[in-house]
Amino acid sequence: MNELELLNDTEEIIPENIITKEQFVKFVENSVKFEELMMMYRCAIREVQTKLEILNDEFKTKRQRNPIDSIRSRIKSPLSMYEKLKRRNHPISIQSIADNLNDVARIRVVCPFISDIYDVARMLISQDDVEVMEVKDYIKNPKPNGYRSLHYVGKEYMKVEVQIRTIAMNFWASLEHQMHYKQFDNDDMPEIVKQLTECAENIYHTDVRMQEIREDIHKFNE
Ligand code: GTP
Ligand code: MG
Repeated sequence: MNELELLNDTEEIIPENIITKEQFVKFVENSVKFEELMMMYRCAIREVQTKLEILNDEFKTKRQRNPIDSIRSRIKSPLSMYEKLKRRNHPISIQSIADNLNDVARIRVVCPFISDIYDVARMLISQDDVEVMEVKDYIKNPKPNGYRSLHYVGKEYMKVEVQIRTIAMNFWASLEHQMHYKQFDNDDMPEIVKQLTECAENIYHTDVRMQEIREDIHKFNE
């Protein structure tokens, strides 16, 4: 099924007067077009997830260990879609969701070691049917708060955001997210931001050490 065909078919325009988030959520909940679009995102997630599982199996066969610890996915909630479209001054419509949001479908891949992240990303990106739309390497260039992860937006027929991190990076990001990271973007709580950043640095240091230890063990066993 083709994304544009489906959307152009009987395009549902959100009436001008539908502007509040409550109205938007109610509107999409009753929209067949929206449900069709979400179904396509769910299919895209399943496709990428299957690819990742196959990569994991292949890698295991060759190197006797899994480069993927866990995979989790989610579809963005209608409320978050609305808020992001608004925040970025995009039109509020179903077409606009498909055109302007890269993270409606998200897969989070958690790997044991840093090198696994790049192995998994390389294996995924090298598949011919995947078009790479965006890569953000927050491992080489961490966010000022210390956030680390490799983000990549790939497209087959729908856009899917893939976040790849180590178990340790995921530990930090999960806890920091629970503490509402978006509220710390301002200068209100510099001490807390500083402490969280220090934790991220320590965690990264440990990640690097663990990988070195694994390499030492590997050399020892050769
Ligand atoms: P938004 O952050 O959603 O506005 O999107 P963006 O296009 O700026 O993408 P970015 O790559 O910065 O972040 C996308 C996603 O990565 C977020 O929705 C989070 O899941 C995750 N993320 C980014 N920065 C942080 C952070 O500082 N802490 C945590 N816990 N997660 C983050
Ligand atoms: Mg952001």
